[in-house]
Amino acid sequence: MTGRIVLLIGAGVSAESGLGTFRDKGGLWDQYDLAEVATPEGFARNPALVHDFYNARRANALDATPNAAHEALARLEQGWPGEVLLVTQNVDDLHERAGSSRLIHMHGVLTGALCAACGHRWPAPRVMTVTDSCPGCGASATRPDIVWFGEMPYRMEAIYEAVAQADLFVSIGTSGEVYPAAGLVEEARIARAETLEINLEPSSRPGVFDQVIAGPASEVVPLWVEKMLAGEIQI
Ligand code: OAD
Ligand code: ZN
Repeated sequence: MTGRIVLLIGAGVSAESGLGTFRDKGGLWDQYDLAEVATPEGFARNPALVHDFYNARRANALDATPNAAHEALARLEQGWPGEVLLVTQNVDDLHERAGSSRLIHMHGVLTGALCAACGHRWPAPRVMTVTDSCPGCGASATRPDIVWFGEMPYRMEAIYEAVAQADLFVSIGTSGEVYPAAGLVEEARIARAETLEINLEPSSRPGVFDQVIAGPASEVVPLWVEKMLAGEIQI
């Protein structure tokens, strides 16, 4: 019962904590124009609108609590004798609050602020505004530390390296529509890792994963983790 596990996490894992997903019916990208709130061009056009959007996301995330899926993944990290790495597309901090520590936030974090002028990073206040100034250089060019469309996700080299060494790659609660995250399963297959998808419903990419478990994350992830820790699943 050893082996290296890399898990790619998406919005479905936080859905049952009350955080909206993006592409499900009624999801965030039905309510908001992605081009206006999640691109550098949108931020340049209307920074106040973008801050409002992420202030609302931040308030939701701060008020939310980890669900049984987050807690189970923390137990996996603590109990698994091999390496476990969570690569999350989510910008909330529910994995940290559940106790996970081996975690890469490839799309950034709501708890962070970033200066577009000098690159300085600091903890975001609960409400960010266009007039905030950077504690490093003083410029009023502060933005949420979130990766927008058209920008390179964080720590891709470390992510590719981990996937290249993985024995098991698990994708949980993601639609697999946003690259480069969506391409990691192919990298895992090249590395001859086993691949498993856990999602409310199997993704639109049938046949890409070796195995699929369908169901709500808060129910199926704890069951899968218990089986892994009991040695009932060999990798
Ligand atoms: P999506 O909204 O695209 O997909 C969410 C997935 O979670 C869907 O496949 C749902 O079927 C599934 N799902 C919903 N509820 C679930 C539940 N209770 N249990 C298990 N699965 C559930 O979200 P992501 O794939 O995370 O990027 O989106 C990827 C990126 O697109 C995000 O990181 C964000 C977004 O635009 C940026 O903003 C840069
Ligand atoms: Zn600065």
